Amino acid sequence: MTQRVLTGITTSGIPHLGNYVGAIRPAIQASREAGVESFFFLADYHALIKCDDPDRIERSRLAIAATWLAAGLDTSRVTFYRQSDVPETNELNWLLTCVTAKGQMNRAHAYKASVDANVAAGEDPDAGVTMGLYCYPILMAADILLFNAHRVPVGRDQIQHIEMARDVAQRFNHVFGKGREYFVLPEAEVDDNVAVLPGLDGRKMSKSYDNTVPLFEGGSKALKEAIARIVTDSKLPGEPKDPEGAHLVTLFDAFADESQRAAFRADLIGGLGWGEAKQRLVNLVEDHIGPMRERYEALIAHPEQIEETLQAGAAKARAIATPFVNELRQAVGLRRMVALRAPAQAEASEAKAAVPVFKQYREADGQFYFKLAAHDGRLLLQSQAFADGRAAGGWVKRFKTEGAAALSEALAGPVALADGVAQAEVEAALAALLASLADAA
Ligand code: TRP
Repeated sequence: MTQRVLTGITTSGIPHLGNYVGAIRPAIQASREAGVESFFFLADYHALIKCDDPDRIERSRLAIAATWLAAGLDTSRVTFYRQSDVPETNELNWLLTCVTAKGQMNRAHAYKASVDANVAAGEDPDAGVTMGLYCYPILMAADILLFNAHRVPVGRDQIQHIEMARDVAQRFNHVFGKGREYFVLPEAEVDDNVAVLPGLDGRKMSKSYDNTVPLFEGGSKALKEAIARIVTDSKLPGEPKDPEGAHLVTLFDAFADESQRAAFRADLIGGLGWGEAKQRLVNLVEDHIGPMRERYEALIAHPEQIEETLQAGAAKARAIATPFVNELRQAVGLRRMVALRAPAQAEASEAKAAVPVFKQYREADGQFYFKLAAHDGRLLLQSQAFADGRAAGGWVKRFKTEGAAALSEALAGPVALADGVAQAEVEAALAALLASLADAA
């Protein structure tokens, strides 16, 4: 069975080398595997949670889309779209919001971190916390569940969000599924082989630490300048260096093959100067991303082409999302108006199906009899013989007007329960008969 793999990229920044090595490159590689159907999207609704600068959102969406395309994403193989071009996301978001426990959102790491920071600063616990931030995990669950993704490649910090998506999916399945599993339960996929790229100062490369190496922005000049600022120890050229302690080497490893790695280490131990080592890193990275940068620049010069690519991606995504959300609307009761079987009517008609019948007849002996048969033909009651047909008919009439109330008197007299039939069953059958007669009147 094909596995659906889905991941989103929040459009609040400009991609750096760490994003490329940690997310973009492995995702594009994975999308080329057989048996995998990939969904990559620009999480621009999510970006609004962190950013209220429209121009930055716009720049970021363009830069991220161009980066993925320049890095070799094959949009004929994958579904590549903007979250905000698939409004079904928001509709599902609401359906999920209505089955999500508030207490669960209270426990979300991102929200709790804000609260903790506020408390530590002596502020109101919810200072600066928007409902967007608070409900962030539900929107993310909607992204994932809308396409019933099996696997969600994410960083460690996102694992809790995937667990929440599973919980919400389970809850919806339970409440509305009636035996049908509308949602697949997604799994987080954290790849330990993918390097967490260190930044200039050795901490994880991240915009929030201001230690990033740009991927395409600023051209090769900016790349070179950033790499020049990588912090190293102060050993001089000619002195042996320890490659294992140097994050410059980790950066090099992210682009090097085995023999390049070995040669670089040997040269550092042999006294290669840091300045020279940085130049080698620049050359290596440039070999990889130089050709992509050219494609990037060509794409950025024609945003209308990127727009077209994303529109086509949205159409592909919506071909799945629209009918699915329609099914979900049915499931929760948002349906077209049609003549309903109101619950009371439905019960009555079910009862009608279970209505027993009286039969009056005359045997060869010339005597009159009646019997009550269940809706399925089983015998419930049998009368003894009456010489007078009207006497038999009188009892039938009493049953039809009094229902089960006439039963004990009848059983004490001329009527007997059929073999193996419980009195309670006959009472229920007579009640159903009475109800159906009242209904018909
Ligand atoms: N929250 C993710 C992040 O910040 C981005 C994201 C949004 C996402 N929706 C998603 C990732 C759905 C995976 C699946 O990295």
